[in-house]
Amino acid sequence: HPPKGGVRTPVPPLVIAHRGASAGWPENTIPAFVAGIDQGADMIEVDVHMSADGELVIVHDVTLDRTTNVRSVCPERADTRVKSMTAAEIAELDAGSWKGEAFAGLQVPTLAEVLALVHTTRTGLLLEVKHPELYPGIAEAIVAACDEVPDYLERSLAAGLLVVQSADWGFVREFHELAPEVPVGLLGRPTEQQLREFAAWVDQINPEHIDADADYLTMVHELGMSSLVWTVDAVTDMEKSIDYGADGIITNVPDLLVEVVEEL
Ligand code: G3P
Ligand code: CA
Repeated sequence: HPPKGGVRTPVPPLVIAHRGASAGWPENTIPAFVAGIDQGADMIEVDVHMSADGELVIVHDVTLDRTTNVRSVCPERADTRVKSMTAAEIAELDAGSWKGEAFAGLQVPTLAEVLALVHTTRTGLLLEVKHPELYPGIAEAIVAACDEVPDYLERSLAAGLLVVQSADWGFVREFHELAPEVPVGLLGRPTEQQLREFAAWVDQINPEHIDADADYLTMVHELGMSSLVWTVDAVTDMEKSIDYGADGIITNVPDLLVEVVEEL
């Protein structure tokens, strides 16, 4: 029923820690995820790529240049893409120093390490698959990694603690066909006509926050889907997204968003 008096009853949105609590910690590292969990995030968002030998690793970019010391460890190496390096080579890299010397020595985590971490908590996992066209077999590898952790899928699916998303909508379809029990999200802003088609199998439509407004999110909701918006770090933007009806907000500052949500 619509709220009486035309005033929307605020429903607290999920707090989602973008690459972990990545304002204060090096993004996509275990301490960033632990910080996000400690700050009260409902989910942590991670980016997944695949190494040359098929290990799933958590890093944002296609190359390791920006967030590791790969350039100084391997100065002669021309190709520093995740897909051209082995898991053992990636494990040698320092994924913390770029953010500050206090974080020196942190490793690029594997998906297996992240699953083991979240499995001990009530925090969910929003798993973004980056550039799946570079990684044949990545959908199967993700399902296999989840299956490796006893009870992980059973528990996380029952509790709504896992969503797989990608900006590659064709890949999301492929993943859904492989593992229809896992909720999936599309990154971006489909048209109304596309939304009507996606509603048959997509759980979430996750646009950049500047692409979302009340009308768009209402349409998503009326079609039976939910919406997480990214990446929202300013209080005024958090309030706007809440007002528009976002079901979750992806932020680099989960501690701040927890405060805003607690005020509702
Ligand atoms: O979760 C969505 C958001 O993370 C997409 O942007 O570039 O931070 O992966 P990006
Ligand atoms: Ca992401």
